[in-house]
Amino acid sequence: MYNSGLFLIIFITCQMFGAQSQECVSRQEVQSALRHVHKLLSAHESSFLQSVRSLRKKLNLLHNTSNISTSENNTPLCQHPNPPANGRMLGQVFKVGHEVHFLCNHGFQLSGPETRECLDSLRWSGDEPTCQKVDAETHNSTSSKPTSSSSSSTPSSSAHVRPSRCVELQDSTHCTCEQGYSISSQDRSLCTDVDECELYRMTQSGRLCLHKCINTAGSYYCQCPSGYTISKDNRGCQDIDECKLDAHNCTKEQVCVNTFGGHRCMVVECPRYRNASYIKTSALQCERNPCVQGNKACLQAPVSISFHFMSVMSNISTPRVLFRVSASRILGNSLRFGLLGNRGTGHFTLQRSSRQSGELLLVEPVQGPATLEAEVEMSELDRRTLLGRYITKVTLFVSQYSF
Ligand SMILES: *[C@@H]1O[C@H](CO)[C@@H](O)[C@H](O)[C@H]1NC(C)=O
Ligand SMILES: *[C@@H]1O[C@H](CO)[C@@H](O)[C@H](O)[C@H]1NC(C)=O
Ligand SMILES: *[C@@H]1O[C@H](CO)[C@@H](O)[C@H](O)[C@H]1NC(C)=O
Ligand SMILES: *[C@@H]1O[C@H](CO)[C@@H](O)[C@H](O)[C@H]1NC(C)=O
Ligand SMILES: *[C@@H]1O[C@H](CO)[C@@H](O)[C@H](O)[C@H]1NC(C)=O
Ligand SMILES: *[C@@H]1O[C@H](CO)[C@@H](O)[C@H](O)[C@H]1NC(C)=O
Repeated sequence: MYNSGLFLIIFITCQMFGAQSQECVSRQEVQSALRHVHKLLSAHESSFLQSVRSLRKKLNLLHNTSNISTSENNTPLCQHPNPPANGRMLGQVFKVGHEVHFLCNHGFQLSGPETRECLDSLRWSGDEPTCQKVDAETHNSTSSKPTSSSSSSTPSSSAHVRPSRCVELQDSTHCTCEQGYSISSQDRSLCTDVDECELYRMTQSGRLCLHKCINTAGSYYCQCPSGYTISKDNRGCQDIDECKLDAHNCTKEQVCVNTFGGHRCMVVECPRYRNASYIKTSALQCERNPCVQGNKACLQAPVSISFHFMSVMSNISTPRVLFRVSASRILGNSLRFGLLGNRGTGHFTLQRSSRQSGELLLVEPVQGPATLEAEVEMSELDRRTLLGRYITKVTLFVSQYSF
């Protein structure tokens, strides 16, 4: 068919320019070509009709054999169950192992089983259900009770089954379902809920939900752990900043530290060193009081101690610069950076990033939840005399999740 169509187009263009073109075919040749095309077309048509006829025959035969097999086997059937008054029944296959489902009209509530199965004994399982009028009063009270709605997180099975919409075609029936449902493999008159969570897990490499996927009748939704809200795309999770939102119980003396998925109330206390005393100069800093002249122990104690609280997600990629310490002015002629005892040995290193600054690096991924601590020391020297030590105490909160 395609070939002859192409031929025709070429031919027409040739005719259009025929008057001018010397190379164009003569009238006789044109007529012979036309006859040829006609022949080709009718040959195509008859072969097409033939294949349609043979297809139809095969279909009929299939239909007949399927009818025979069902009627010859004489499959035992359960009795046609009665749909409840003020409700209806879904399901048209009454063979052993098949199910029917019951729904009630609006304003009625099902009493009895939602689903009955045709048993080997050719009896339906369970009792015959009925539809009972819903009391407006009781309905109000149940719907306003939050516990009852949240506990039924697995919706009733009747919501997971719907009737399909079928269209009778010439020789066949075509059934469709609304979005989120697919034709039941057992009974074409039924649509069953598609478990999007399961489907996505089996077929896609990505994730439908960042955290938890919950299947519902005809749809699904994503859930986040506490401390997070669902993001705008309804798939991701966003941390709630409890400190910013004042959704915390930290006292005025405590420092509220937001973490991924939560928060901490931290107490900042100035340390005790021999022969030196400290005063809190800000929520996160302590400074040494002036030393008595000649008190060497006091002069050796840190000039200042700063506190630094940081929050990261679990398993962040490394190496990663957590923060930088720099001297705003240098009195002596050199600075030295060092890592003091830390409760995260192996996770951190310190590196010089310029003449005046050093960087604390996280060098190994940390699986949360975890809390790591490190102390960064910066010493100011003049030749070999220590002029002062400055300490930064770093606390790193690693969340449970990688978001
Ligand atoms: C199918 O069965 C019908 C009667 O049940 C019969 O008339 C028809 O010829 C059969 N078709 C084929 C292809 O056997
Ligand atoms: C198959 O059986 C059904 C009823 O069981 C009948 O309506 C239909 O006409 C039959 N089809 C054929 C091709 O015999
Ligand atoms: C049920 O609630 C609706 C709206 O909340 C109210 O209009 C109706 O009066 C309530 N019915 C009863 C019986 O309380
Ligand atoms: C704050 O304290 C109240 C009462 O002790 C408690 O109900 C609430 O959950 C607490 N809030 C937070 C964010 O810890
Ligand atoms: C600490 O201070 C006391 C006096 O307050 C002094 O006697 C002592 O020598 C000091 N210790 C050091 C190690 O400097
Ligand atoms: C941590 O991240 C790496 C890649 O960045 C990944 O291969 C690994 O599975 C993650 N581990 C956990 C426990 O999430």
